[in-house]
Amino acid sequence: MKVAITGATGFVGSRLVKRLQEQGHDSLVLTRDASKGRRVFPTSAFPRVQVVAYEPLQSGAWQDAIAGCDGVVNLAGAPISERWTPEHKQAMLNSRQIGTAKVVEAIANAEPKPNVLVNASAIGYYGTSETARFDETSAPVEDDFLSQVCRAWEAEAHKVKEAGVRLVILRFGIVLGMGGAIARMVPPFRLFAGGPIGSGRQWFSWIHREDLVSLILKALSEDTMAGIYNATTPHPVRMAELCHALGEVLNRPSWLPVPDFVLEALLGDGAKVVLEGQQVLPKRTEASGFTFQYPRVKAALQEILTDS
Ligand SMILES: NC(=O)c1ccc[n+]([C@@H]2O[C@H](COP(=O)([O-])OP(=O)(O)OC[C@H]3O[C@@H](n4cnc5c(N)ncnc54)[C@H](OP(=O)(O)O)[C@@H]3O)[C@@H](O)[C@H]2O)c1
Repeated sequence: MKVAITGATGFVGSRLVKRLQEQGHDSLVLTRDASKGRRVFPTSAFPRVQVVAYEPLQSGAWQDAIAGCDGVVNLAGAPISERWTPEHKQAMLNSRQIGTAKVVEAIANAEPKPNVLVNASAIGYYGTSETARFDETSAPVEDDFLSQVCRAWEAEAHKVKEAGVRLVILRFGIVLGMGGAIARMVPPFRLFAGGPIGSGRQWFSWIHREDLVSLILKALSEDTMAGIYNATTPHPVRMAELCHALGEVLNRPSWLPVPDFVLEALLGDGAKVVLEGQQVLPKRTEASGFTFQYPRVKAALQEILTDS
């Protein structure tokens, strides 16, 4: 396979490119900064990776590079974890809405066309709740910024079907791997001897990064996969349970709550994602036959934190 990837230099994408390389596939890395692309994927270690500079919000010559690719994975987006100034909120939306429109435009004009677009989205689509359970059929919420971003992102991706291209949308839960959300949670956890973040009752729907990459690879290669899939394990946990597992794995006591303001200082408005939260179940993902290598949080954390 040859796979074009936006956001390839990030937390999820860099792992995806590594797995594609290990399996003998070619990657076309679309990045805003080609020198960063080459730093992340040096030719010596990644001979199967081609780096192409692009402007995500502009049509241009970069779009021609999509022709001849078998699949496209669209991961790019301005980070959620930065302070939500009006400018950053606009960047969060534009990078996903306009960025996806430009990827879809490139796919529609490509000759030959890729077979499939695998587009990221997020469980923020469902809004937050301590009591509701969400699956792929659940409705979004109206007055929630993250849900609005997800809806705009997905709406642009859906247009690829007009070009006769298969679409898989994966609604990512919080991705656990070395770095990412865990890297941000461990320091305050250590500092405060651990404990539930916020009330501890909020849901934490997560997926191990290796499982997410496996799901993306399955979506790329299996023609029967189409539509929406939740990229979360079948065993979401309440925050208190996550912190208890974290305490056991780090061998630290887990009893003091981490105050909201500490987390907000660290994560900016992105703290909302862990201070509130939602219980999401991967109903269609499981029905597709996908098996999770890390379905349980303690084993996932053990693998991540003892590997480092
Ligand atoms: N990690 C999670 O827990 C999680 C959960 C739910 C959803 N997601 C979503 O899944 C996608 C991948 O996640 P990730 O954790 O790998 O993200 P990440 O590490 O932040 O990487 C995203 C990539 O997007 C590109 N990017 C950053 N700012 C951009 C902007 N303003 N405009 C266009 N591109 C920009 C960057 O690539 P270049 O600099 O090379 O262009 C960056 O490497 C993101 O859209 C994220 O929101 C992630």
